[in-house]
Amino acid sequence: MAGISFSSLIAADMGSASTYVMTDEKTPVTRCRSVVMVDALKSSEVYAAGDEAARMSGRSGQDTLVVSPISYGAVADSELAAILLLSAVEKSAGHRKTLDKSRLVLTCPEGATRVERAALANTALLAGAKKAVIIKAPVAAALCMQRKIDRPQAQLVVSIGASVTEVSVISSYAITLSRHMKTGSSAFDSAIIDYVRRKYSLLLSREVASELKEQLGSAVEPREDASHTLYGRNVITGRPVSANVSAMDVYEAIKRPLEELTGMISDALYNIPVEYAGDILKNGISLTGGGSELFSLADRLKNDTQIDVYQSGEPCYDAVRGALLAAGDDRLLRRLENAYSAYEV
Ligand SMILES: Nc1ncnc2c1ncn2[C@@H]1O[C@H](COP(=O)(O)OP(=O)(O)OP(=O)(O)O)[C@@H](O)[C@H]1O
Ligand SMILES: [Mg+2]
Repeated sequence: MAGISFSSLIAADMGSASTYVMTDEKTPVTRCRSVVMVDALKSSEVYAAGDEAARMSGRSGQDTLVVSPISYGAVADSELAAILLLSAVEKSAGHRKTLDKSRLVLTCPEGATRVERAALANTALLAGAKKAVIIKAPVAAALCMQRKIDRPQAQLVVSIGASVTEVSVISSYAITLSRHMKTGSSAFDSAIIDYVRRKYSLLLSREVASELKEQLGSAVEPREDASHTLYGRNVITGRPVSANVSAMDVYEAIKRPLEELTGMISDALYNIPVEYAGDILKNGISLTGGGSELFSLADRLKNDTQIDVYQSGEPCYDAVRGALLAAGDDRLLRRLENAYSAYEV
């Protein structure tokens, strides 16, 4: 990025469920929902972005739509993603901010294709950035977790997002092996909606299902059976009904997709070549991403794999925090670029 002097750093992690932005290391991460509200007939007409759009979802008329510009961790619509990014940056900075004098670092999944990376680069340019860097999210998360990725010894990162799960082996700044799976924590939301509809004839929104998962969900059988009373309409009769949904209900609901997810992760681990095995046993698994916050998931993974599992206090922020670390360190950025873990665009 020679020739441009930057007045500020901006790191952004745009996921299918949430967009995270950090403008400096002392201020907290800003999180907003990855949605925008557009005109139903003319999608270039944007009425709201982020949490404001999410709040209006279902409450506005038929002439508007709430859409996500990010799908499976990749930008599906660069123009709308740029509007979402600018709105998240504005929320983080506390005022409208142009990006032309900022060094912008964006994360992307390891499994992103060239086309998907180009769409992310386009998002940065449409948002007004003169230049930007794209960094692979598992590498950014490992940086945040202070894993020693500068060494040749392998580090294993398992990241679970809303719709993408990745298992990556990192050594000497490079991802040397990876498995990208198009599933994540939002599969649990769908399972909760199905279960509550079948058991209680109550139709839940994704929002409520996700809250139930976050508050009552567990990756191991719950010991205390806490519950939430929910109100809505009976899906068959249309009459108002209430249901007491318990932690055990949520556990039963997510049991199958959870087994599938943890099974896929274990399967990816067993297929890692034996030469990495010693390092991975020694260094453990770095577990990251919002989906990994499911209660007791780290314990379950440790139990399933018999490998130590490490997590930061706020796994959903790891990638954006790591991206900000990289944004402020030229030498590190160059090393990441040489290892194809970061790309200047
Ligand atoms: N405490 C929690 N318990 C269970 N799930 C949680 C918890 N906190 C967040 N999640 C889930 O984590 C997911 C969001 O994680 P994250 O922000 O990493 O995803 P994303 O980056 O938007 O998605 P992706 O990277 O797959 O595109 C959501 O599905 C959310 O419900
Ligand atoms: Mg993500």
